Amino acid sequence: MTVQYPPVSPKAPMLWHGGDYNPEQWSREIWAEDFRLMQKAGITAATVGVFSWVSLQPSEDRFTFEWLDEVIDGLHAHGIHVILATPSAAPPAWMSQAYPETLRSDENGIRRQHGQRVNYCPNSSDYRRLSGEMARRLAERYGKHAALLLWHVSNEYGGACYCDTCAARFREWLQARYGTLDELNARWWTPFWSHTYTDWGQIMPPRRNAETLTHGLNVDYFRFMNDSQIACYRGERDILRAITPETPITTNLMGTYKPLDYRRWAKEMDVVAWDCYPNPNHAASDIAFLHDLTRGLKDGQPFLLMEQTPSSQNWQEINALKRPGVLRLWSYLAVAHGADSVLYFQWRRGRGGCEKLHGAVVEHAGREDTRVFREVSQLGAELQTLGDSVIGAAVDAQVALLFDWDNWHALDDAVGPVRDKRYLETVRKHYRALYSRNVPVDIVFPDSDLSRYKLLVAPMLYMVKPGVAEKIEALVANGGTFVSTYLSGLVDETDLAFENGYPGPLSSVLGIWVEEIDALYPDQENTLVMSDGSGAYPCRHLADLLHTQGAEVLATYGSDFYAGMPALTRNAFGRGSAYYIASDPDQPFLNRLYGDLLVDQGITAAFRAPEGVEVAVRVKGEQSILFVLNHNASVATLDLGSKVLRDSLTGEMVSGILALDGYGVRILG
Ligand code: GLA
Ligand code: ZN
Repeated sequence: MTVQYPPVSPKAPMLWHGGDYNPEQWSREIWAEDFRLMQKAGITAATVGVFSWVSLQPSEDRFTFEWLDEVIDGLHAHGIHVILATPSAAPPAWMSQAYPETLRSDENGIRRQHGQRVNYCPNSSDYRRLSGEMARRLAERYGKHAALLLWHVSNEYGGACYCDTCAARFREWLQARYGTLDELNARWWTPFWSHTYTDWGQIMPPRRNAETLTHGLNVDYFRFMNDSQIACYRGERDILRAITPETPITTNLMGTYKPLDYRRWAKEMDVVAWDCYPNPNHAASDIAFLHDLTRGLKDGQPFLLMEQTPSSQNWQEINALKRPGVLRLWSYLAVAHGADSVLYFQWRRGRGGCEKLHGAVVEHAGREDTRVFREVSQLGAELQTLGDSVIGAAVDAQVALLFDWDNWHALDDAVGPVRDKRYLETVRKHYRALYSRNVPVDIVFPDSDLSRYKLLVAPMLYMVKPGVAEKIEALVANGGTFVSTYLSGLVDETDLAFENGYPGPLSSVLGIWVEEIDALYPDQENTLVMSDGSGAYPCRHLADLLHTQGAEVLATYGSDFYAGMPALTRNAFGRGSAYYIASDPDQPFLNRLYGDLLVDQGITAAFRAPEGVEVAVRVKGEQSILFVLNHNASVATLDLGSKVLRDSLTGEMVSGILALDGYGVRILG
């Protein structure tokens, strides 16, 4: 029995279907048509208000909610629920005019002009006051509305501000963190280049034209900016919560968005939501990784797919259409990995502005006899068929992959051994090897409970925070397997190198010490030669020159002056083992390694699936829901063996060889 989560809102215990709706850009006649078409497409939830600030408050002392009353009542009358956004992502021009200090300053500390969106200083007290006031009025006016499902605070928090207000708040943040300047100077290693601070007022944000090379400062400014933006979110959230305690609150995140640490955000959110816009370089496994990451933010609680495009994007170099069937496939990919909704950006394509060519359910022609409208409507009907059978279901993983934003920032900040550390690519590569075996993976963070996993993978864990090595040791001692790589265990949480060398606090569980790190030019490679004669695998990028202290050598380097030195080690620790991969091997090596480690740990997939066919499972109490996803454009089959399962969409019983169309999906219960 796994945990079962409650629906996001008891008002709508089903997979929500809908998305961003911007009625403020359209006339009443169009609203009526929208409601009719939404019903037709099986839309059950519309997100309104995201950028409506000036339409709701045309000047500081005037509020115009009447049009929104009408829209919300209209949606409700058509059986459509409302996700109500606060408009604080797009401050109106009157605000910038009256309070210029609400505007953000760029990386050189120069104040920006009014325009675009998310262009506010997160530490501006006027911005906080005015956005809070708007949140209060929305809550008072719509908090009891029967259509209201969820609060969507602001939109895609992001970026950073480098203004003088932020500088002042940063100094206070540092005083609270370090207490004394001596402590700060020590943790930031400031005698280097005579950077010792002798007065708090000397500390500036890492502006591009100022101090950018003090790593402790850089990572702390990232943390501070993250906290500053969370404070904006919390300011609005607390107002909403006080007035409407029953209505859950979220904001929309963006996957592996580097400037914000979403693990910290998730703790403040009732449900995690995210906007999924894969770029053309993303493979299915990369999208799956992002969904798993999002589910991991709240330790497995289902999340909302808040935005995805129904057809094409408009922010990429080349904006290809989603091929027929791909919208359905990727929607179920999200659901299979823990989403309890399928929502789009956007309902109706606007006529002007930089998103006028962005994919939408309703295009400029305004017609319903289109491919996209048909695909959306089919999906809407299917989601209604699924009813409440999927929502709240968990993903039951025995494998975990560790990801950490602070680590990512510190890694990228390091000057050497190579400029491009490829953290994300490396994490995705390890994930892919596990994903391709159809075993569920949880993405975990340094503060996660790791004790329930049999296999923990932590690629490039450069920064090891207090307590993490101990949790890893406990996992391995209890019989688990740990996999670590080159560039792990170099620095502590303030980006200071460990005094006992690398891999710092991980040395004991790994049974090795690293003497030197070689950096390889793009056209260079070495090989991992398996000591048992089972093959040799190319490796690149970086190569640790290490010595064992108890670990066993499973592979050695094939060439260069360090030929014969350990390249893959395993250390027996308690009842488990800890592996160290000293260089960056190509995908086939990782596929093989993880294949073996899964067998060792007795972790098996639900089915053996052919290339490009994914079988993902969500578990609800005793019930397993299988999502069979054909990521290939061509037909494929899956052998169900002796299992007899029920197709959740058609109701028919299936067994033996299951046929899948190109991009086809079958949901089996
Ligand atoms: C983001 C935003 C939306 C819209 C889309 C376009 O996700 O939240 O408002 O701009 O991008 O892809
Ligand atoms: Zn600022």
